[in-house]
Amino acid sequence: MRIALGTDHRGFEVREHVAALVRQFGHEVIDLGTFSPEGVDYPDIALAVGEKVRSGEVDRGILICGTGLGMCIAANKVQGVRATPCHNDLAAEMSRRHNDSNVLCLSADLLGERLIDRIIEIWLNTPFDGGRHADRVEKISQLERRLNEKAEGGPSP
Ligand code: RB5
Repeated sequence: MRIALGTDHRGFEVREHVAALVRQFGHEVIDLGTFSPEGVDYPDIALAVGEKVRSGEVDRGILICGTGLGMCIAANKVQGVRATPCHNDLAAEMSRRHNDSNVLCLSADLLGERLIDRIIEIWLNTPFDGGRHADRVEKISQLERRLNEKAEGGPSP
């Protein structure tokens, strides 16, 4: 897969390690920064990664900030993005199986390197269950489309 990676300054220390791990699993990393430990605004990075996912230029994205939460809130504003904050193995597994997560949001402050590695491995390798979960995910997509049309002055729901 092609994976877009983005971190803010709080994720800066783990970013090289994460990029290397993703490559080790056989994926291509599209690195969207940040490229120095200087402070940056996490929404800018989250939207850059989200936009790559929306456009189909990448299959999925990984975002890392202090808590993983701000990145997640921002990324989910982009149409087609299903960003999930994952702090343990089960969340990583279920975010893929039930929610078809396409952006993984990690906390640099709360997770150790070994846990980050495990979460990434599970998230990359767990397929979507489909079936009734596909119907539910499709409802989210429909809602998103309706809200966007409404915002653009198009047909109302
Ligand atoms: C940056 O100080 C911090 O707010 C950010 O990394 C993240 O934790 C936001 O949710």
